[in-house]
Amino acid sequence: MEMRLATVRVRGGQPGAATGDLIVAVVIEGGLAGTLRALGKRWSARAGRRARALGFHGREGERVLVGSDGEQLVLFGAGKDPAVATWSRLGGRTRREATEQGARRVTALPGPGGEGSSSLRAFVEGFHLAGYRFVELKGKSEPVHLPALTVLGESLPSVDETKTLLAEIETVVQAVCAARSLVNRPASVATPTHLADWARSAGKGIRGLTVDVLDARRMKRDGLAGTLAVAQGTAEPPRFIVMRYAPRGARKRVALVGKAITFDSGGLSLKPPKSMETMKYDMAGGAAVLATVAAAARLGLGVAVTGYVPATENLPGPAAQKPGDVIRYLNGTTVEVLNTDAEGRLVLADGLVLASRDKPDAIIDLATLTGAARIALGVRYAAILGSHQETIDALVAAGTRAGESLWQLPMPAEYRDSLRSTVADVRNIGMGPEGGTITAAIFLEHFVNGVPWAHLDIAGPAFAEQDWPDCPRGGSGFGVRLLLSYLRELGAES
Ligand code: BES
Ligand code: MN
Ligand code: ZN
Repeated sequence: MEMRLATVRVRGGQPGAATGDLIVAVVIEGGLAGTLRALGKRWSARAGRRARALGFHGREGERVLVGSDGEQLVLFGAGKDPAVATWSRLGGRTRREATEQGARRVTALPGPGGEGSSSLRAFVEGFHLAGYRFVELKGKSEPVHLPALTVLGESLPSVDETKTLLAEIETVVQAVCAARSLVNRPASVATPTHLADWARSAGKGIRGLTVDVLDARRMKRDGLAGTLAVAQGTAEPPRFIVMRYAPRGARKRVALVGKAITFDSGGLSLKPPKSMETMKYDMAGGAAVLATVAAAARLGLGVAVTGYVPATENLPGPAAQKPGDVIRYLNGTTVEVLNTDAEGRLVLADGLVLASRDKPDAIIDLATLTGAARIALGVRYAAILGSHQETIDALVAAGTRAGESLWQLPMPAEYRDSLRSTVADVRNIGMGPEGGTITAAIFLEHFVNGVPWAHLDIAGPAFAEQDWPDCPRGGSGFGVRLLLSYLRELGAES
């Protein structure tokens, strides 16, 4: 299950000392002269001429390639003040360049701006992650290209720090790749049962980690009515997965709730065919939660984490829930289901009610909840909303550190009215399509019972419709890096 990772070394030294069949130098916009000077006389004149000829300024996405007997030098632009996300993409571009050139030994020169621990971490993560391939369903096997990377610089972290960092990166990368593969598997493979089996086997033999899987009978007994209502329409048995990591001495407890609709057809409120094509990725929130809890345990983080993952398909089978049906939740709230395609919030509500009962310090949910989030923020930002500004701020900061961007949307009280139902407490869709990401979050808040809560709508960044520098087309594993960064910080505080 684990991906084979390239060997990475970090070494102190001057850029002029770089060897290998591919040398990658990162150029900050406006800093070309400095980079050329550091590269020394072997490269500077030729690289400078090429760069000028191509109009290279060091903007992100710009690239210059210079060759000299068996060795090649690439300059990558990084822009003026590269964010952590940019470093991840630069690591990804480096890996892709190495593969394109068939290079076996790569030396990367991030330069002073890329040698701090978060940029270095992101660069190496991006390098590994760009090498991810989903090949398990290919008939013919393709050769794996595993170039060895040396990061060379003069102000890199200490040897000890680097060693810990590289080991940590490997665990994080494996978690992101596991989440990607769960998403990339077709719905016929990545069923609720498959997710439960994955969680069970990931939990085996790791200290402090336990996995509980509830089947339909147990869900009924426990009152998980939302997930069961959605599951009515499919022959595929639902599962409610609870994955707990409880280290000794942890002071803080966090609940993660992840939407795992393993296929979203819309139910009786059926989607048009085009909109269904990628709906196997409607379990990306659940996959990120499972992979994160497992990795938190592997890393031995000092914070207790419980993942709640309601998993089912949303299909229009003969017993499917119908528009107008009413669900009664465990916390007493009743919901009129006017659109069966707004199913994510129905299953998340179960997770939120269960998590709230445990009174954790924070509840964070991740869900591919609304197409509106993708429209509003595009594919490189997830929307964040919630009831507790401190938790939201901490998550936004963790996202910045991890290179996964969040943007907060408001939850104005005056929008609450649009969820008013005539027969139940609330309806599951707003009066119109406007502000769809916001009304979905307002719906969720009904199930959070006062616990500090943040909601991440990852419908945009969870799936790459085209190749990204650090992610081939398909599931991105979005959320894993940011959650682990958030949890690492919380664990270090307590
Ligand atoms: N899974 C979808 C949201 C989605 C759409 C994710 C596109 C990724 C890409 C969700 O269950 C859904 O269908 N939401 C509806 C809500 C509407 C019926 C209020 C939507 O966004 O159209
Ligand atoms: Mn839907
Ligand atoms: Zn959905």
